[in-house]
Order: sequence, then C-alpha cells, then structure tokens
Amino acid sequence: MLESPARPDSLALAQMRDGIKILTINNPPVNALSFATSGALLAEIEAAETDEAVIAVVITGANGIFSGGADIGDFMKPPVAGSKSVRDVVAAIERSKKTYVAAIDGNALGGGLETALTCDYRIATPNAKVGLPEILLGIIPGAGGTQRLPRLLATKNPMNNGLAGVQMALDMMLKGEAKAAKPAKGMGILDEIVEEGSVVDRAVALAREKAGTKLRVSQLKFVVVPPLTAMAHGMVPSEEKGGYAAHKLIDALEAASELDYKYGIAREARLFEELVVGPQAQSAIHLFFAERELGKIPGLSATTTPKEIKSAAVVGAGTMGTGIAMVFANAGIPCHVIDVNPEQVARGKKNVADTYEGRVKKGKMAPDKAKALVESVTFVSDYAAIADCDVVVEAVFESMAVKKEVFAALDKALKRDAILATNTSTLDIDEIANSTTRPENVIGLHFFAPANVMQLLEVVRGSKTSDATIVTSMALSKKLKKKGVLSGNAFGFIGNRMLFDYIREATFLLEEGATPSQVDKAIRDFGFPMGPFAMSDLSGIDVFYKISQEAPKNDYRSSEIAIRLYEKGRYGQKTGSGFFKYVEGERKPVRDEEAEAVIVDESKRLGITRRTDITDEEIVNRCMYALINQGAQLLGDGIALRPGDEDIAWIYGYGFPWFQGGPMWMADTIGPKKIYDQIMQWQATLGKHWQPAPHLKDVAEKNGTFAPRPKIGSN
Ligand code: 3HC
Repeated sequence: MLESPARPDSLALAQMRDGIKILTINNPPVNALSFATSGALLAEIEAAETDEAVIAVVITGANGIFSGGADIGDFMKPPVAGSKSVRDVVAAIERSKKTYVAAIDGNALGGGLETALTCDYRIATPNAKVGLPEILLGIIPGAGGTQRLPRLLATKNPMNNGLAGVQMALDMMLKGEAKAAKPAKGMGILDEIVEEGSVVDRAVALAREKAGTKLRVSQLKFVVVPPLTAMAHGMVPSEEKGGYAAHKLIDALEAASELDYKYGIAREARLFEELVVGPQAQSAIHLFFAERELGKIPGLSATTTPKEIKSAAVVGAGTMGTGIAMVFANAGIPCHVIDVNPEQVARGKKNVADTYEGRVKKGKMAPDKAKALVESVTFVSDYAAIADCDVVVEAVFESMAVKKEVFAALDKALKRDAILATNTSTLDIDEIANSTTRPENVIGLHFFAPANVMQLLEVVRGSKTSDATIVTSMALSKKLKKKGVLSGNAFGFIGNRMLFDYIREATFLLEEGATPSQVDKAIRDFGFPMGPFAMSDLSGIDVFYKISQEAPKNDYRSSEIAIRLYEKGRYGQKTGSGFFKYVEGERKPVRDEEAEAVIVDESKRLGITRRTDITDEEIVNRCMYALINQGAQLLGDGIALRPGDEDIAWIYGYGFPWFQGGPMWMADTIGPKKIYDQIMQWQATLGKHWQPAPHLKDVAEKNGTFAPRPKIGSN
C-alpha cells in the first residue's frame, strides 16, 4: 500500500493511499469551513483534478467530527474580496470528473453536510449526525443544501411522486434538526453505516470500487406541488416575527423543483446573501456566540477544573423541586427528593410519573426509558439519605428563615465537598451561605418554572463562593442542557431585576390611560409570546406582591395597581382573575371591566388625567428602554458579566423574541445614545424613576455600543 504523509499543520490534510486522495478537514475544534479552510480544501480538490495518479477522492474530518459547517464568525465580518467559501468547494466537487466519497464521523452540519451531499457517496460511523441547522441562525443553507437535499430525498423516497421525500427534506431544514446516522440512512441521506473498523478505510475501499462513476445529486429531478409549499408558508411564523428565513427556505425549495440546478443554486445563493446580513440573522448569530461565551468567566483561576456530578438531591417535593429533579434525571444524574410532608411527596411522585407518561403518550419517549427516568427520581424523608450527593438544590418556600434552617441541616448532613445550592429567586445568597460552615460551597441555582421546560438557569455567586463551585456549577448547567448565566448576588439577580423595571413601566402606562389588553397586545406584536400582564397573572400577583414587600426600598415610586388587585383577592390565573379574567379551566386572558375599573380608580386617586393617545410604539419603547436601562445598571454594577448574558437570560427565561437579539443587542441596534436622550426626556416628563444608569450614560457619551458591534449589512 502506498501512503504519503500528511502535512499536520494544514487546514486540509492531504494523503494518498493506493491512488485515492484522502482530504481531511482540519480546523479544530469543529472543522468549521472558514474562508481559509475552504481555500485550503479547494486547492487540494483542484490539485486532485489535474493529478492523474488520483483515481478518486475521500473527504473526511479530523478531531472526530466531519465539519460544523461554514465559519459562523465569518458572517459577522465584511466579506474579504477573493476569499473562498464552502460554496466554491462544493462547486469544485460538482465540476470534478473524479469520484468523491464522504467519510463522516461525528457531526456533518450546514456547509459540512452540503459538502458531503455534493460527493457521490456518503458513508458514516454509527455516531455520526447530519443536519442543515442554518435556519437556527436566521439563514438558509447557502452551499446547495436547499437544492440537493430535496432532490436526494425525493429520489430515495419515491412514494407519492417523491413528495414524501420532499416533505422530509423541508421538515428537516425548517426545524434545523440533526439526524442520527440510523434515521439518516433510513431517509437516504447516508448510503452506508460502517459499524466496525475505520470509516476512512471503508471509504477508500468504496472509492476504489466506484472510481470512474459519478452520482450527482444535482442532476436528479423532482416536482413540488404548490399546495405543499403554500401549506408550509402558512405553518411558519410570519416574516417579521422571526420567520424571514423560513419563507426564503420554502422559496429556495420551490426553485429547486422548478429550475435547472444551475439556476436554482444561483437563486439559493442570492437568498442566502440577502438573509445573512439582515437583522434577524445577525441577531441569531449574536445569540449563537453569546451562548458559547456564557461559560467563560473572567478572573477565575485557570487551573480550576469542574468536579464531576454523579448524584444530586433536591429539597422540597413541590412543583419546582420535582421539576428540578426531572432535569437531573433527564441528564442521567439520579436524584433524591427530600420532603417530610406525605401529601407533598404523593403530589411530587404523581408529577414525575405524569410528566414521563405524557411523553410516552405523545410518542416522544419509549416506555422503558420513561420507566427508568421515573425510577431515577427517588423520594426520601431523611437528610442522612442524601449525605453522599455531589450537589443538592434547595427548593423550599421563599423565606429566609426557612431556607437558613434547611441549609443548617444540609451543612450537617452532606459530605464536605458537596455543592449546596439554593433555588431562591430573590433572597441574599450570602446570608444563606453564612448559615453554613462552608460558604465557599454555596451558590444559587435559579431554575425557571416549569424547570424541566425552561432553558434558563441563573447561577448566582455569593461573595465567598469558590472558583471550583462556580466552574462546577457552570459545567453542570451545560450537562443539564440549560443556558447557565452567571449573576452576582443582587436582589432579583439579572432576569427578575430587569423584569421588575419592565413591569413597573408597563403598570405606569395603565395609570396613564392604557389597558392591560392594549399593553399586552403591543408587546405580543413586538414578538413576546405573552404580555407583561398575562405573565403577571400566570406567575401570580400574590407572588409579585410578596416580592415587592421584600424589595430593597429606593427613591422611586411604584404603581399600586397590583396591590389593589391583590387586596381584592385577584391573584391571577389561580383565582380566575387578575389583570384579566379567566373562564374556568382555560388559560386565555379575557378583558375584564372590573380590573379596568380598579385601574381607572387608581388613576383618579393619583389625580392623573387618563390619555387616549398612547400608541403601541410608546408602549414598546417605554417597556424595552426600562429593561435596557436596568440591564446597563447591572453591567455597570458588575452583576451581569456581559450584555450577551442578559440577552440570553431574557430570551430563554422570559420569552424575549430571539429575532430582536435580546434587550442589549436591541439597544446596540437602536444606539445607546438615542436611548439615553429619550430617557432624559422621559425623566423630565414622566418622573425621576427614569434615571439613566451610569453605564448607559458612559456608553452614550462615547457614542458607543454595549458590545463591540460588527459593521455589516443592515443592522
Ligand atoms: N463556525 C464557527 N465556530 C463554530 C462553529 C461554526 N460553524 N461551530 C462551533 N463553533 C465553535 C463555537 O463557537 C465554540 O467556540 P469556543 O470554544 O471558542 O466557544 C467551539 O466551536 C465549540 O462549539 P460548542 O461549544 O458548540 O461545542 P459542542 O461540542 O457543544 O457542539 C456543534 C458542536 C454541534 C458543532 C455546535 O457547535 C454547533 O451546532 N455548531 C453550529 C453548527 C451550524 O449551525 N452549522 C451551520 C453553519 S452555517 C453554514 O454552514 C452556512 C452554509 O450553508 C453556507
């Protein structure tokens, strides 16, 4: 066997084996097809084309991954003239007269899969995953994915004139979902799964066997019927509500059906280029990187590594406690739930069993998996039973006295290196930590309800929390599939602290003349799934009332509308009325004259003449600027590490529309100077609570942005 060594420093390692050229994409950690990597790969492909010794080519990836796709960072920079992209790579393979085999291990995503789809054959290891996740970045596949995937799947799934396959392709691209090797083989994306031995060895053998043959997906034909695409347009969000890319994706699929490949690919390229510089894509790309920044904590000792968490416990079998226990169970970490109240335990057990049974009924989980998960949550009543757990999360009643008692008991019972976490949403972590003999092991793990659904997890460090506890908690949040946002120890932490100002401004709008329905509609039209008042009714006005009683006092007035509703026993959904009323058994907020009368009385009591000219724009601006101003305050105070952390918190914890990029990204889009000037104007007209955060003032005075902002496209 003839084998030439590869140059280890190259972005595209090239090796010859018996006339087969093996090209290995080598750009750690995920072999992103950056301009440079694409250039290196392209050069090797072009060299192979003219080299008569090469009878076929195998493309694979180093580091156990084929490729994570085009380099997303490149989309946030102005294009550099002459740079080569994955589109050039794909075009060169398409032009080639030689046989190409893709040998896939790990992920082949986006441009990675598009490269593989251009090859004549695709084989993979059992742990391979293939997908076109571009839609999650607010773009569409831009290197032939929208043209090749439907062609391939329509051909491999010919039922109903190939429509079944087209539907599969559309579904996969619209969801951005990656498929594991087995289903991908079933669909026809992969030709073979290599169960044993090296996938590259098998690819080399296949390449030799098939050398001289070409199987170009681009030459396959299919026809989509207009009702399919019309239905698809109707099922995705509207263009302005985050569906911009989805509609363009459907257009690209139509082009694949109606046009010859060369015209279809040109249409796809044009749609891609238009999308990638647009505000929705730039927001999504910002969030992609913001999410990956979360775990990078400046100032921690570089040698600290996370401890492994093998077992967990939760104190309190309420809805929150059992929800958290299921989060651990889902991540493969067995969890004890400790509670002494038998009725609570019975309810908790039922909650766990019902949740998993529900997933089985919906066909989302196999019965034996559900059984195993139910069994991995065990209910105990004695602290001794949880002594060996690596982490415990307290989720009892929100009272400092009760929590201190629990922490004193945990301190006595748990092994010395266990992490003691509290799920408090507002209480002082330091005060809780100081009720133990190991404050360095105490941290806040603030889950959001329902804990097994909501993706945000605020990790709250106290003044004595050790680096090891922080690092382990951040790694744990990733293992739990949560977006872990590190917060300093301040009332309401990041998310709720911003929420209080948002709700306060929304309620001032009620005093001035707006109705709850009007405010909620404006906020929903902006993109939130629910407005501030439907959300207050869902969380409970009693809960907000209690929090407001404990909040540190400041110089600014708050509206008393919620207090009036509370006094009338209108706690929200749980009592059938709050800012809205609710038909029994239903969750839909219904406009309520009684609530509106309470609001009008409150305006009267304050001597406010109600305005009739409050516009949606005023509602949205005042609510959003309140969020942004508090976001700036928290950044200035060092409670939040980065503006992107606040964006992630609000998107995953409070339903802020992703396509606006989060409150701080939105602030940078508008321009902090403009926001500051508006706030100063409101300070004069609306009251002194419109006090600009010093950090906002600083950024505005420099005419800067909260985060470095790439100068690209329309944002
Ligand atoms: N471009 C640039 N950087 C990328 C990247 C990409 N496509 N994919 C991952 N990275 C970076 C991350 O930013 C991170 O960097 P950091 O260590 O400096 O923070 C590092 O690679 C590791 O990423 P993760 O922490 O996400 O690692 P995981 O192992 O958890 O996940 C992954 C790996 C499944 C590949 C995941 O990173 C992922 O889903 N990446 C995005 C895939 C994607 O969307 N591809 C499509 C790109 S667009 C495209 O191809 C356009 C084409 O159609 C023209």
